[in-house]
Formats: sequence, C-alpha cells, structure tokens
Amino acid sequence: MHVSASILSCDLLNLETEIENLEKAGIDSLHVDIMDGHFVPNISFGVDMVKQLRLISNLPINVHLMVDNPKQFIDSISHCNVECLIIHSEIKQNIENTLKNIKRHGMDVGLAISPQTQIVEVMQYLPLVDFALIMGVPPGFGGQKLIEPVLSKIGEIRSIHHKITIGLDGGVNENTIALIKAAKPDTLVVGNYLLASFQKKNRLDDIKEKLKILCQRK
Ligand code: DX5
Ligand code: ZN
Repeated sequence: MHVSASILSCDLLNLETEIENLEKAGIDSLHVDIMDGHFVPNISFGVDMVKQLRLISNLPINVHLMVDNPKQFIDSISHCNVECLIIHSEIKQNIENTLKNIKRHGMDVGLAISPQTQIVEVMQYLPLVDFALIMGVPPGFGGQKLIEPVLSKIGEIRSIHHKITIGLDGGVNENTIALIKAAKPDTLVVGNYLLASFQKKNRLDDIKEKLKILCQRK
C-alpha cells in the first residue's frame, strides 16, 4: 500500500522537520493541496510551496489542484519536477484539454472525483488519466469524516480500467482503514490521522506507529 502524506495537516511552522520525519518514517510520497478559495471554501498553498518542498525532499510530490482554473498552474508546476498533477472533475474548464495539457508538460495526469460526482459522469476522461483520486470527503479541509459509500467507486473504475492507479483522499484513520482496504485502493492520501497531533515529543515515533497501523491493518 502506497501512503502519501497530505502536508495540509503538518505542523506548518516546522515544515522542514516534518518532512524529514515523514521521510525517516518511510512515507512514499508527499501530497500538496493547492486551493483557491473559490473551487473550495479554503486557501492553502501555492506553487512556491511546491518549489520549496522540491528543494528539501527527493520524495515524489503529487499536487492536488482544488481550483477553478487549473490551466494557469500547469506550466509553473511542470518546472517543479512533480510526479503527478491532479485536477478536479467538477471544474468548468474543458477537462479533456486540461488533462492532455498536463500530459504534454511531462507529468502524470490525475483526476480527482468529489463525493457527489458519480463515475459514469467522468468515464469518458478515464482513458486519459494515470491516477484517479477518489475523494473520501468534500474537498477543502483535512480531518473530515469518511463518506463510506464513495468506496464503491474504486471497484467501479477498476473493473473497467485496469491500468489506472486509484487513490483515496480524506477520512483515512485507524477506524476506517479496514473498510478502505477492503475496497482495494492503490494509494492512501492521509493528513489528519498521520500528522494533526502536532505532538513535538516523539514526533517521529508517532508518525511511524500510525503508518504501521495503516499498512498492517487488514
Ligand atoms: C482535502 C484534502 C486532503 C486532506 C486529507 O481537501 O484533499 O488531502 O488533507 O484529508 P484527511 O485529513 O482526512 O486525511
Ligand atoms: Zn488532497
């Protein structure tokens, strides 16, 4: 199971140390949520954050764009050496063109699917996508409760498109992990459970322990 840490829940005033601890704990990748305050009612990071993270870590970085206008970010993010750029299937822009544009810029193409969006609505785009990100919660905030019925979307995609990597973003914790694993995602994006304790003492051990729970629980 690939586990990606959503840095939204990091102790942001000590981010470099947080990233070091995530690396030492054996996290597989970093997940950076970019929000514009329009597509979602929150604001988080911008491209400069991605640039700075790239300077301090060799971990793969996935960028999750929760913005109305992803087009304006594609070029600048493509210079940050990120693995995958994820856009939302609910934007008003031309999705097919945007996905192709990301590919042309040399990044893996990701499509995030919010809880209210059904797979049948995005089916036409899936052949263009490397990574489908099923949102376990409404996009915009960490620490929300998993909407369990979304888990069936994983099997729905898998039964038609065998090559797409499928991730679940939001609501992953020690209470939901068994149910989530039964749905067989390839990747878990985890923020709150892994990082939100802000416990400075034994921070590395705490992250390691939680990562172990997520990876070992059946
Ligand atoms: C929500 C974000 C997630 C979030 C993860 O809009 O896309 O990446 O940080 O959620 P939790 O905190 O539930 O793991
Ligand atoms: Zn995210």
